[in-house]
Amino acid sequence: MKSNVFELRQAAYAHQPGHNIFESISFDIAAGESVAVLGANGSGKSTLLKILCGLLHPQAGSLKVFGETISEELLEDDAFSQRFHRRVGFIFQSSDVQLFNNRVEDEIAFGPSQLGLPEREVRRRTADMLKMLDIEHLKERPPYRLSGGEKRKVALAAVLILNPEALILDEPGAGLDPKTQRWLTHLLLELNRRGRTIVLSTHNLEMAHTVTQRSLVLSEDHRLVFDGATPQVLSDRALLSQVNLIDEFTHEHDEKSHIHLYTHG
Ligand SMILES: Nc1ncnc2c1ncn2[C@@H]1O[C@H](COP(=O)(O)OP(=O)(O)O)[C@@H](O)[C@H]1O
Ligand SMILES: [Mg+2]
Repeated sequence: MKSNVFELRQAAYAHQPGHNIFESISFDIAAGESVAVLGANGSGKSTLLKILCGLLHPQAGSLKVFGETISEELLEDDAFSQRFHRRVGFIFQSSDVQLFNNRVEDEIAFGPSQLGLPEREVRRRTADMLKMLDIEHLKERPPYRLSGGEKRKVALAAVLILNPEALILDEPGAGLDPKTQRWLTHLLLELNRRGRTIVLSTHNLEMAHTVTQRSLVLSEDHRLVFDGATPQVLSDRALLSQVNLIDEFTHEHDEKSHIHLYTHG
């Protein structure tokens, strides 16, 4: 039996006291799964992902990651926090909040240097990442001057260099050109094939379809309204329309009725 990476139990969360956005959300994510969190803007995708990676803490309910109950106090312990962030990598919706070094190369080397890996090992891994993400030509550049797609690649490199077992990605395809989106889709598929657990939020149904087997769908009022197979949710137009992931209208062509789907994003 596969072990669970995440176990969220009856989690309630409020950004502001008294204004719960989640009342009671529960699900497990097993090792090696690839899961999409789908929902319209404001449905709570980023909030949910930040809870999973320990950046936000549920006010009620519990979260276990790799079998350990996560709490604010536990994550304040440096040794635990370091171990946790080595196993669970998080890619923010905006790369800007994630990049803070003056050179791309230093940005990528930052994590392993902090962990105290030998200098030679850090250099070797950094070179591997620059190559894998095809950003060798950017290594001297300041990350904040790069394009959105280039920044996303640097953010990915800075996380992947630690070889995390679980990767949480908040709208990884947003703002990328179609070619880079395809590249990213293949990278995520490959990482999942190699056993990495992947949780990504998106309103790009194409990416959800290609990368994930399972979807969690959030409604606009922040409820988990579907937890099941990705192909099933993607063929459920009533549900997609209800949660505002597609606009749907019908019109007549040659006496036949067509449904046109428009995805947001
Ligand atoms: N720091 C915050 N303070 C107050 N409200 C917030 C904060 N972050 C998000 N929200 C609110 O929580 C809801 C969910 O936001 P978010 O998780 O960012 O949704 P999504 O990622 O699906 O667009 C929205 O109504 C948003 O306005
Ligand atoms: Mg978001």
